[in-house]
Amino acid sequence: MGATYQHYIDGEWTDGEGTETFTSENPATGETLGEFRRGTPEDVERAVEAADAAYEEWRGLSRIDRAEYLWDVYHELKTNVDEYGEIVTRECGKEISEGRADVVEAAHMVEWAAGDARHPSGDIVPSEIPAKDAYMRRKPRGVVGCITPWNFPIAIPYWHMAVALVEGNTVVFKPAEQTPKCATVIARLFAEAGLPDGVFNMVQGYGDAGNAIVQSDDVETILFTGSAEVGHKIADSVGGVSGKRAACEMGGKNAVVITEHADLDIAVHSAVMSSFKTTGQRCVSSERLIVHTDVYEEFTERFVDVASKVAVGNPLEEDTFMGPLIEAEHREKVTEYNELAREEGVNVLVDRTDLDADEIPDGHEDGHWVGPFVYEADPDADLRCTHEEVFGPHVALLEYDGDIERAVDIQNDTPYGLAGAIVSEDYRQINYYRDHAELGLAYGNLPCIGAEVQLPFGGVKRSGNGYPSAREIIEAVTDRTAWTLNNSKEIQMAQGLSADIITSDDE
Ligand code: UN1
Repeated sequence: MGATYQHYIDGEWTDGEGTETFTSENPATGETLGEFRRGTPEDVERAVEAADAAYEEWRGLSRIDRAEYLWDVYHELKTNVDEYGEIVTRECGKEISEGRADVVEAAHMVEWAAGDARHPSGDIVPSEIPAKDAYMRRKPRGVVGCITPWNFPIAIPYWHMAVALVEGNTVVFKPAEQTPKCATVIARLFAEAGLPDGVFNMVQGYGDAGNAIVQSDDVETILFTGSAEVGHKIADSVGGVSGKRAACEMGGKNAVVITEHADLDIAVHSAVMSSFKTTGQRCVSSERLIVHTDVYEEFTERFVDVASKVAVGNPLEEDTFMGPLIEAEHREKVTEYNELAREEGVNVLVDRTDLDADEIPDGHEDGHWVGPFVYEADPDADLRCTHEEVFGPHVALLEYDGDIERAVDIQNDTPYGLAGAIVSEDYRQINYYRDHAELGLAYGNLPCIGAEVQLPFGGVKRSGNGYPSAREIIEAVTDRTAWTLNNSKEIQMAQGLSADIITSDDE
């Protein structure tokens, strides 16, 4: 194995202060992909200092000049989709078309942010006083901390950082410990683009490094995409500090509603994509299928048929639909939830928790394999398996009778509200769902995955408190100044407020 991969702080690759290293493993084979320095709170402190020191000069550039650096990153991503896509697939186990799509999504986000630099920005606001010009100006906030997940290891860091940088902030990036190699690619692209020292910093490592970013007095905004458990802690801790801001996007217990007016080809296709793409490991993956009784039998038969044979295997092969889970502990968690569902008395229809030996490709015996687990449950029962996020191919079929209001009640019976879909040919049902399903991302006659970067991405309820992507992220990484300029020599106030200065001489 080659040298240990380093952090990138203040324009330099560095070992940092810590003595520990960690390894990255291919989840399909167990093969070691590299050894990485494990960042400490001291390393984070240095990175924050560097970002803080670089801030004044960086914010002094025009948005357009800042974006010029990102165009280099964009072209690099765009021309190396195959190479980087393979790195994604090897490190996080998503099948190869998903590995490539991750890189394409990253390129799109960088393109959006850099392109936005030349667009008009801000609002011209009317004033009651004709001589006053009022408008809204944005200013960067300073150092932005970006804590990102492993499941979109190239795309999501760019969701956070592309806009933050164009807006004039400097960043400290702590990637997921499962995908440090992808993060190294990101750091290399920023280094090669020649960003001024300290504008972009990366500290590899675990939760203690992430926590040091959250706790730092000099980090103004935290952007977080990942588990609800960590996201809520960050939001709670930052919420208590006035002036600090956190935009967090977390998971959910997402659902697809299939009504009595559904086209069942679309329903089966959407449900399979929503449940099993990325082996159920998207924040937007669906773990509940809410199906009307009139179509329940036919839908279930067809869905179960696909779930029983959906291709699990080597993610580098084009004919694989589902790669492995990310790591052994996660496989354990998914297995435990499958067992819990049985204990809670559900009716199991497909159980591929332990794949047959002949389903596991040669040389991949150490991968974290799991297949679909599909069961029927009572939509009104207070079960943990139908209310808690598993983050795997663990799917409940919930049969309902009645109208669309009933289906949407079941959809909303969760503390989360990230993504969901409805399959129906009846526009009234679709519109009712659109207006009443408590969701940040909703789809009609589509799977509930696959948001494009130009849409806001984030949830409601316990799925998040901000939209750490595209246009919406601008709110998290800038402050607004409501600016009013007087064009007259006379001071005039709105709301009929007197501007006269009255003194004792006037009495
Ligand atoms: C996630 O679910 O963790 O919309 C991110 C999608 C992708 C991003 C998903 N563009 O499915």
